[in-house]
Amino acid sequence: MSQFLVLLVAVLAVDAAMASASRLQYGYYSQTCPQAEKIVRDVIGRNRMREPRSAASVMRLQFHDCFVNGCDASLLLDDTPNMLGEKLALSNINSLRSYQVIDEAKEELELACPSVVSCADILIMAARDAVELSGGPCWEVKLGRLDSLTASQEDSNRIMPSPRANATYLIDLFKSFNLSITDLVALSGSHSIGQARCFSIVFRLYNQSGTGRPDPNMDPTYRKKLDHLCPLSGDGNVTGDLDATPRVFDNQYFKDLVNLRGFLNSDQTLFSGNALTGELVRRFSRDQQAFFSAFVEGMVKLGDLQSGQPGEVRKNCRVVNKPAESGSYQVWVLNDKRMK
Ligand code: HEM
Ligand SMILES: *[C@@H]1O[C@H](CO)[C@@H](O)[C@H](O)[C@H]1NC(C)=O
Ligand SMILES: *[C@@H]1O[C@H](CO)[C@@H](O)[C@H](O)[C@H]1NC(C)=O
Ligand SMILES: *[C@@H]1O[C@H](CO)[C@@H](O)[C@H](O)[C@H]1NC(C)=O
Ligand SMILES: *[C@@H]1O[C@H](CO)[C@@H](O)[C@H](O)[C@H]1NC(C)=O
Repeated sequence: MSQFLVLLVAVLAVDAAMASASRLQYGYYSQTCPQAEKIVRDVIGRNRMREPRSAASVMRLQFHDCFVNGCDASLLLDDTPNMLGEKLALSNINSLRSYQVIDEAKEELELACPSVVSCADILIMAARDAVELSGGPCWEVKLGRLDSLTASQEDSNRIMPSPRANATYLIDLFKSFNLSITDLVALSGSHSIGQARCFSIVFRLYNQSGTGRPDPNMDPTYRKKLDHLCPLSGDGNVTGDLDATPRVFDNQYFKDLVNLRGFLNSDQTLFSGNALTGELVRRFSRDQQAFFSAFVEGMVKLGDLQSGQPGEVRKNCRVVNKPAESGSYQVWVLNDKRMK
């Protein structure tokens, strides 16, 4: 009998470093997967040609991922019998879309460089590409994020803001992530592209703050248009444009807010509900370059949010790696004398 007790200790995801912001680097994949950024860009571009709205839908994913326990692709995990994921959280159900675009990028990356590029990084690259392909600014992204081992529907429900939110609430929420009032207003400018559902605005059209009246901060002609699109007790899944140029990333969104033509209450409140955010809306409505620079700064800060939890590089963005295929088992050989 061996005097050594050989223990095989399976340690889940041991190679997983702690995910810290200091890990993030420019050119993180330049040696291990030099074609990564091009692969993602091509997939986003191809999907945008096929379905223009997908650019907006994909860039929104960064916000909903990063606010809930950091940018760790927790958002992308499907529910399992033991875990309620974030896809069915209040702000995400019947609303977030284009998950299959991220899957497509992941599949191509797995063919080119298996188990190298994290889903969390794909979301960051995809959001950047979606903005640039829509006519917005371009910027370099830091990479090296890890994918979470779990997700939290409860945290998403607690954190993600409602379209009814007022400016004060949004200022405080963003502040809790060290994001400034400028970051809040600039990042809300992402509503320069995409659409939202009637479900998200009917209270505003017919019963703002329980008054039984519409939001007074709405241009009457625009309100007529929205009343027609979203009749009381109509189909909540019908969608309308978030600004007058929903496929172009520009400062039209801010011009619309100044003209009381904001779609969501959480948009219009930035102009109508607070003097500080209102001044920034006015500035961005006049100066697209100022908007673009503030937006890039906000996106970089948003992308820096990290959970500090261990992670891995998933093979499939929808599921945590199975221990057997993770390649992250370690075999520890322990001397039994030392154990006593
Ligand atoms: C400031 C707080 C925010 C609130 C309250 C908010 C809320 C919403 C709501 C309610 C919708 C429409 C959902 C629906 O009706 O199905 C939406 C759409 C969208 N949001 Fe936000 N959002 C906020 C900030 C952001 C940020 C920071 C980003 C990105 C960095 C973003 C990107 C988008 C995009 C691109 C869409 C359109 C998506 C599509 O067409 O599929 N939002 N947002
Ligand atoms: C803003 O919303 C919060 C939370 O819903 C609420 O408590 C507060 O009274 C509102 N503030 C204003 C100025 O309406
Ligand atoms: C915000 O900054 C403070 C001070 O630097 C830090 O302790 C805190 O963890 C940060 N919060 C977030 C959510 O990053
Ligand atoms: C408007 O909202 C208030 C408070 O939420 C509610 O009591 C009232 O019944 C609503 N009115 C209508 C017409 O739906
Ligand atoms: C939208 O459609 C989904 C699925 O088709 C349905 O479950 C949901 O209730 C609808 N939502 C609204 C607000 O009508």
